[in-house]
Amino acid sequence: MNKPQLKLAILGASRPHLPLYLKAHEMGLETYCIAWEKGAFCKDYADHFHDISIVEKEQIADLCRKEGINGIVANALEPAVPTVAYVAQECGFNGISYKAALQAVNKKEMRTCISRTGVCLQPEFAILKYGEPAPEIFPAIIKPTDSSCSNGVSKVSNKHEIAPAIERAMSASASKEILVEEFIEGREISVESISFHGRHHVLAITDKETTGAPYFVETAHHQPSSLPQKIQEEVRDTMPRLLDALELTEGASHAEFKITEDGRIYFIEIGARGGGDCISYDLVKLSTGYDFVKGMIEVALGKFTEPVINSTKYSGIYFLSQETYYIKDFIDRNKDKDWVVRYETENGPLKSLKKSQDRSGYIIYQSDHKINCKPRAETNLFGYAEAQRVCKRSLK
Ligand SMILES: Nc1ncnc2c1ncn2[C@@H]1O[C@H](COP(=O)(O)OP(=O)(O)O)[C@@H](O)[C@H]1O
Ligand SMILES: [Mg+2]
Repeated sequence: MNKPQLKLAILGASRPHLPLYLKAHEMGLETYCIAWEKGAFCKDYADHFHDISIVEKEQIADLCRKEGINGIVANALEPAVPTVAYVAQECGFNGISYKAALQAVNKKEMRTCISRTGVCLQPEFAILKYGEPAPEIFPAIIKPTDSSCSNGVSKVSNKHEIAPAIERAMSASASKEILVEEFIEGREISVESISFHGRHHVLAITDKETTGAPYFVETAHHQPSSLPQKIQEEVRDTMPRLLDALELTEGASHAEFKITEDGRIYFIEIGARGGGDCISYDLVKLSTGYDFVKGMIEVALGKFTEPVINSTKYSGIYFLSQETYYIKDFIDRNKDKDWVVRYETENGPLKSLKKSQDRSGYIIYQSDHKINCKPRAETNLFGYAEAQRVCKRSLK
């Protein structure tokens, strides 16, 4: 007799989440797509569609019980983190606790937990409610406790910059609570992991490029990291302690750190989900060969095959924006190269980056070396002049 088909609920249906649906289908699962109908690109790739907001946790738990669903998953979608955990807890699926999920989506709770447990270094911080005066630490980062994608994050260097930065952070915060943090100078990385029943597997360390001050919007990611091996080992050693402290015992995670010039490793934040920006959907598999998306679905269904990593490739993504105008020309010149995995560009003027959503396109690569795209005058004078011309044209 055939085994009954397992049923999987997937939260979120915008286009970037298509890999979850395709993988679930490939794994022979019956899929329930749950999202708002508007923009639900993936609904046509699922067996069933339910027009329910991904934050309606009780309604989704009821649906899972009624339909006899076996597990729930979402990826790279911060607002889905508490819902996935709540439903898993209520319906007896594999997943982190609701309490751990709420902690992982709130930077104040996260910082407080790391202070209490002392499992790794982190910046000094103060929590500020609406109307409270900010401590005068300079330079500092001011950010909302409950947002993502660099929304409302600013660096301040003197007291005149405090008021506008607080205003910006408050307006991005639903709870009207913000953090003022010691600014850590250094390189930035993220760590992509998957956990099952408290066993943690670090899959990749990603080098991150950002616009820098004041808004720190990501402009590129590269795997593997080029940090010294010794520091990478230390980061890998930190991860199980960090994940245990935060009770992130199941599923994908994306942790961000800053590394100072003298090698100190500061925890910045963690997501109880795979990284956005194509890191978890594309880069991890491209650089390690490990099928991360399949792993996430396996964890959700409570049956996991331990990852085997054959780290042989380099992968990365560059984002197009006003600050990285030269990516347009880079894409035009290289789009047919065999190391290009995928690219997309929007028409219209390039925007200056204040948050991730201001970006106008991207290119993903996989190669046997890191692909560099910076317009370096010494190596590519023509490319640089051409990139500026393209930029001016697209800004008209
Ligand atoms: N304490 C800090 N010191 C230095 N840079 C920071 C600090 N906190 C945040 N940043 C910078 O701001 C970016 C966004 O902040 P983060 O805490 O990751 O919020 P988000 O959830 O919006 O990604 C980080 O990737 C980093 O570049
Ligand atoms: Mg971040």
